[in-house]
Amino acid sequence: MKKILIALFLFSAATAFGANRELFSYSLPKGNSGLRLAWRNDTSESWKSIGRNFNLLKSDFGPWGSHKKMLSPKLFRNRLDGQWICIWTPDPEGGVTAMATSPDLIKWLPQRYFVSSSDLPRDIFPDAPLRHDSITVDSIKVGGYIHSVDSLTIENLLAYVEKKEQLAEKYSERCSEDSKRFAGLKPLDLRVTPLLSEAYPISDKLIGVFFEDLSYAADGGLYAELIRNRDFEFNGSDHQGWDSMTGWESKGNGKPEIMTLNPLHANNPHYISITSEDGSLSLSNNGFDGIPLTRDDKYNLSFYARSPKGNTLMLTLEDANGNKYAKATVKVKSDKWRFYSVDLKPSVSCNSAVLRITPGKGSVDLDMVSLFPAKTFKNRRNGLRKDLAETIQALNPRFVRFPGGCVAHGDGVDNIYDWKGSIGQLYERKPLRNIWNYHQTRGLGYYEYFQFCEDIGAEPLPVVAAGVPCQNSASPSHHSVDKVTSLGQQNGVPMEEMDSYIQDILDLIEYANGDIKTKWGRRRAMAGHPKPFNLKYIGIGNEDMITEVFESRFRMIYDAVREKYPDITVIGTVGPFYEGTDYERGWELADQLQIPIVDEHYYVDPGWLVNNRDFYDKYRRGGTKVYLGEWAAHLPGRPNNVETALAEALYLTDIERNGDVVEMTSYAPLLAKRDHTNWNPDLIYFDNLSVSPTVDYYVQKIFGNNSGNTYIPVSIEGENTGADIMKRIGISIVKDDKDNLILKMVNMLPVETSIRLDTESSGIVPGEYTAIVLNGAPDSKVAVPVETVVSLPDITLQPYSFTTVRIEHK
Ligand code: AHR
Repeated sequence: MKKILIALFLFSAATAFGANRELFSYSLPKGNSGLRLAWRNDTSESWKSIGRNFNLLKSDFGPWGSHKKMLSPKLFRNRLDGQWICIWTPDPEGGVTAMATSPDLIKWLPQRYFVSSSDLPRDIFPDAPLRHDSITVDSIKVGGYIHSVDSLTIENLLAYVEKKEQLAEKYSERCSEDSKRFAGLKPLDLRVTPLLSEAYPISDKLIGVFFEDLSYAADGGLYAELIRNRDFEFNGSDHQGWDSMTGWESKGNGKPEIMTLNPLHANNPHYISITSEDGSLSLSNNGFDGIPLTRDDKYNLSFYARSPKGNTLMLTLEDANGNKYAKATVKVKSDKWRFYSVDLKPSVSCNSAVLRITPGKGSVDLDMVSLFPAKTFKNRRNGLRKDLAETIQALNPRFVRFPGGCVAHGDGVDNIYDWKGSIGQLYERKPLRNIWNYHQTRGLGYYEYFQFCEDIGAEPLPVVAAGVPCQNSASPSHHSVDKVTSLGQQNGVPMEEMDSYIQDILDLIEYANGDIKTKWGRRRAMAGHPKPFNLKYIGIGNEDMITEVFESRFRMIYDAVREKYPDITVIGTVGPFYEGTDYERGWELADQLQIPIVDEHYYVDPGWLVNNRDFYDKYRRGGTKVYLGEWAAHLPGRPNNVETALAEALYLTDIERNGDVVEMTSYAPLLAKRDHTNWNPDLIYFDNLSVSPTVDYYVQKIFGNNSGNTYIPVSIEGENTGADIMKRIGISIVKDDKDNLILKMVNMLPVETSIRLDTESSGIVPGEYTAIVLNGAPDSKVAVPVETVVSLPDITLQPYSFTTVRIEHK
């Protein structure tokens, strides 16, 4: 009460004595902006916008991007405590009211949404009516509200926006301006002294991968299945216009039918029933953009079938003209579902084959029609595409975060990734709509993820939703009672279902680590892995809005995991950005709950990385650590090139320096199938026949294969060491557990940089050493690392280059 009175006093004092400016609040027509402000000294002046196109507050309601609207924002001060309140309509169809609060119009607290404006707290509104008007600002006519404010409010706003705009300008610095920016810059000469006595331990898990099924990363990608829609479960909610026949074609007399009567399994209710009058009817599937075949390789074709009177199926792999490369016949003898399997060996290689199934006269039901190359990664059944898995393995990732991102927390509560639906026999797994607008068979499910981690020697890092779906959810769920709960983060798992939701998470840990006598340990053993997978980490939440709905559920899960599995390291979440409400509140919660690690995400300009080299130097030591779980440098047009790669390499030298507070990092996203990208850039692109690592991939690979567990600080001296120059030079020296010394040097300048290492202080023996050099013009998309020999203690860093030297311990 006392606090309110003081606030009221200050508020009325401010309004009485300092109200000598006018502020106008508005958003652009059709809600196509966030909250904008304009100001003037007095009515004789015209309105000036505060910042050019600057949104002080953006609506978070509803799905991504342009769906997020701010219509008719009303700004006013809370009658009770003087805080600013903004209420607006976030949904063009109406029916929802959004509200956010701020002490200063700069820092905004989490948004709240109401089914109707009548649900808003009544006592917050001012007594006097708001002053509505229309003004012209930046040549646009807009409607909004006029407020009297003191000059300090305007000054603070202008200073804040100016700083933001200056930063934005810095962050948009591009290498293409370097010839101007660094005109006349001479090659640099630097003396580098390793400070061995100041060495300190750092994480040895800095480089990992984040695998998410987006851009066809799993089905049609890493998961080696060659048949698309093998389960006949595609449907219109996976993707508009899809159905059980998507991917399949029939020809000949008769018509196949999709049926649901007595299916193979309730989780997989659709199958195809074929009745052939004269044996001419056939069914074909051309996989994911054609089936790639390699001559003389083995392909396992399998399916479940039943036939009332028996049937003989002719199975062929053929090209589009009907040339047959492999064939087999299978007799279906039972009227009950039975599993059939046959190996096919094509006589020629073919980039784009089809599988054709031609039943004899009569009828047959088919489901789970699958074609797998025998040569999968580590030759595992139901395995992974070898070339792709090997490309990931070559990064030497210390951990794998899976199954998402957005896929993990899903589009609405009903779409949260339920791990239990992803294990067991393939026919009993629950297909799941992919938030990225396609279908997940979940043939690559939790068992396969754990197995992959083990196969590549990486720690598994599963991420479960924190009882809330994606903050950008667009889909209603069976729990939705109104428009607010049907959209967005506010729709958490209902409290009465949280116990069972939490139990699922505890069961996941038991599945990974439990003895085979436990319920879920036994399931793992039955799947072929009696030994535990030795899970050490679990992520709870993915860049969620830190609302009350989130917080309450997060705490429940966190407490339960800690109580039952104190040895498991929980990784929390701090929103989708490196600043802002969720970042701040996420960190507050982390401090409060002493969460061991939190997951930060930021996709930023290369200029942000170059200008924030000290981001983690400023972090507090000894508390919660950081997992930079999703990050990448984004240029306009979203290419991967030398500029993005070098900015990332620079930043990774800083991450190594901060390896006492940063525990892990993973570039995102990892995989993308050409012509099916939901997102760019990605680390590795592929099509059916080839894998194309990007320039950024090589940076990750070099760091991944040259990590250490001790950081050796350096001092750098030279003639020309101004901040603008030095922020484009990165030098990191680490030592690994075998006492090998690894030097990583990034030169993001357009001139050569010569380095002389102080060998005395470092004990480095002068002589010839192999170096890996990645360099090229900043816009090059094809640069690859090459090996060269350097003569220490001198190293010349080429313009726009990343050089790594390993000094093996003898
Ligand atoms: O990496 C792509 C997406 O970016 C992830 O799914 C999500 O977590 C983030 O928004």
